[in-house]
Amino acid sequence: MRRNIIAGNWKMNMLPNEAISFIEEIEPLVKDTNNEVIICVPFTDFFYANNMAQGTNIQVGVQNMHYEDKGAYTGEISAPMLKSVNCKYVIVGHSERRQYFNETDEIVNKKAKKALEYGLTPIICVGETLEEKEAGKTIEIITSQIEKGLVDLTASDLDKIVIAYEPIWAIGTGKVCSSEDADNMCKVIRDKVKEILDIDVPVLYGGSVNEQNSNEILLKENIDGVLVGGASLDPEKFAKIIYSGHKLGE
Ligand code: PGA
Repeated sequence: MRRNIIAGNWKMNMLPNEAISFIEEIEPLVKDTNNEVIICVPFTDFFYANNMAQGTNIQVGVQNMHYEDKGAYTGEISAPMLKSVNCKYVIVGHSERRQYFNETDEIVNKKAKKALEYGLTPIICVGETLEEKEAGKTIEIITSQIEKGLVDLTASDLDKIVIAYEPIWAIGTGKVCSSEDADNMCKVIRDKVKEILDIDVPVLYGGSVNEQNSNEILLKENIDGVLVGGASLDPEKFAKIIYSGHKLGE
């Protein structure tokens, strides 16, 4: 049976006591899933959520990191710091980071390389704006983000990379990309990565995924999972998404 990756992105939500209750509540609901479950939490929740998730099938990651090992970068968290607390997943280049914190493709690339150096799996996000979509530039933009984001990564690195296609106009807006378009773009991304580095990477879709649309999305051939924002804050909704999408005949 093919395993989908179901990743939650809590963004700037949840206090430690809420994170603990969330894991307690969702754990029995998802213990039988074949899908891989990752929840990317705020740094202040990581210790608590990760402790609660020990011995379960839930993995805990974070949402950002700096690309230097250490130094005068006030307020930042480095890859060795994440490794030291047993963090294994980090979201890199989320559109909110690109939009509000001026992260460029070059920064995303540096972060992805540094994450890999420390054995962390980067979940690298790419996506086009509504303007770019309406100008018919989706493929051009996504291809360029992939090419620049993967500069100097080696094929062996890519075993441990996840890409998330997140059209910016679909994030937090309730506007879901049609499952056909999401499927097509995930294929474009997979093929591009294959062309550059000759290796298969899992490609997730993200943007207004919820417990009603997750099944249709996850049944698509080229979509290997979902990155879920809003709906990952509710244990019951997120549990339903986690059980979605077992391909027919599996
Ligand atoms: P959303 O967010 O599910 O709330 O649209 C997705 C994301 O930003 O990763």
